[in-house]
Amino acid sequence: MSLDARDLAARLPPGFLLGAATSSYQIEGAFDADGKGQSIWDRFCRVSGAIRNGDTGEVACDHYHRFREDVALMAGLGLDAYRFSVSWPRVLPAGTGAASSAGLDFYDRLVDALVERGIRPFVTLYHWDLPQALQERGGWGSREVAGWFGDYAALVAGRLGDRVADWITLNEPEVVAFAGHAHGRHAPGLRDWPLALRAAHHLLLAHRAAAEALWASSRDCSVGIALDINPYRAASGSAADVEAARRLNDHLHGWFLDPLFGRGYPEAMVAWYGELLPASLAEEIESYDGALDFLGVNYYTARFAKAASGGLLRFEKVVPPARAGSYPEDLLGLLVRLADEYGPSRIYVTENGLGLAGEAPAPDGHVEDTERVRYLAGHLEAVAEAIVRGAPLLGYFAWSLLDNFEWAEGFAKRFGLVHVDYPTQRRTPKASARWYQQVARARR
Ligand code: FCB
Repeated sequence: MSLDARDLAARLPPGFLLGAATSSYQIEGAFDADGKGQSIWDRFCRVSGAIRNGDTGEVACDHYHRFREDVALMAGLGLDAYRFSVSWPRVLPAGTGAASSAGLDFYDRLVDALVERGIRPFVTLYHWDLPQALQERGGWGSREVAGWFGDYAALVAGRLGDRVADWITLNEPEVVAFAGHAHGRHAPGLRDWPLALRAAHHLLLAHRAAAEALWASSRDCSVGIALDINPYRAASGSAADVEAARRLNDHLHGWFLDPLFGRGYPEAMVAWYGELLPASLAEEIESYDGALDFLGVNYYTARFAKAASGGLLRFEKVVPPARAGSYPEDLLGLLVRLADEYGPSRIYVTENGLGLAGEAPAPDGHVEDTERVRYLAGHLEAVAEAIVRGAPLLGYFAWSLLDNFEWAEGFAKRFGLVHVDYPTQRRTPKASARWYQQVARARR
């Protein structure tokens, strides 16, 4: 592996986009500013024991008030593109009905600032902060959510669509459905498998409703979805572990990929879930098509599956501590496999990055995150190789621009290229940011 920024830059095709990603609840703060409605994360963070150290995203990186400084940082890093999300309750405080002009103005100004600096905006419509008012009406468990989401998409496209061409409907619907509704680890904190399967189904319907609204708003826009795909390997060669890995991959990835590419739910999983999944839903999804303009892939690490008894999916997940969770070869294998098996016309790596706990600046304020530089270099090299092997990859977004609120982990883990000192909100680019900047500059 080469850490040489020039070598790497030379391996990426012309026009390939290098960007960074964030999401609204993780960076914006200003949780109740200017009439913003409550989201399910505002609510969940107040549940005792839900978030490490009782952290919340109420202030986070205060990006709502500091977005100009943050866009200037991006420009300084030489980013081609920036992926951010719109907070649904910031623009529609009750989820449906009256829009907040202050909320829409915020994204309007952000997009203007990006465009002025020549940074291409990629807008995610849903990165987990559902309006609490909609949760009270059934949230993702309600079939009506597809219509609510479609209307919200039309509203945002109507306001930003003259400058934004690239849209991601949903971030990681698997996490939304299962971490939020089956495992209770994320908002809304529920533990109900039949509900989780319904939520997964409604997420697919909502994706389609939003895609239609976006295409109706402009012919030139490009619509994708970001799926979390961290493929499982079997922890051993035993048939039981191999089966556990297969099932986990079908459950976490196939359950969304197959329908999005018009193949219905994976049959083996329909049989496995049995009566938890009403037959009418499986039937409905047989004629479903996600009709993606591009597939977004969020990849972090390889995972290992070990068969275990008990629990719906009967597995144990193991991630060995060796190699600090860095498996770029699995990203390469994944991208090539996705291209071969599903044939998406375009792929973006919409998230990839390394989270480190206890990362602190040296007395001079600098963070020498050599491990992150190695991680990024290895994964960008995998991306370059996947392109050589025929995967239609058009861009890569590092997660994340800034250290930020890492959901149930609170602020304990840092993923940023740029260090954030939360008490002062001072931003300091880490070694990884300087390295990324060199790659970006070498390509110009
Ligand atoms: C992904 C999420 C993103 C961030 C990273 C570390 O699953 O999409 O918001 O938390 O993990």
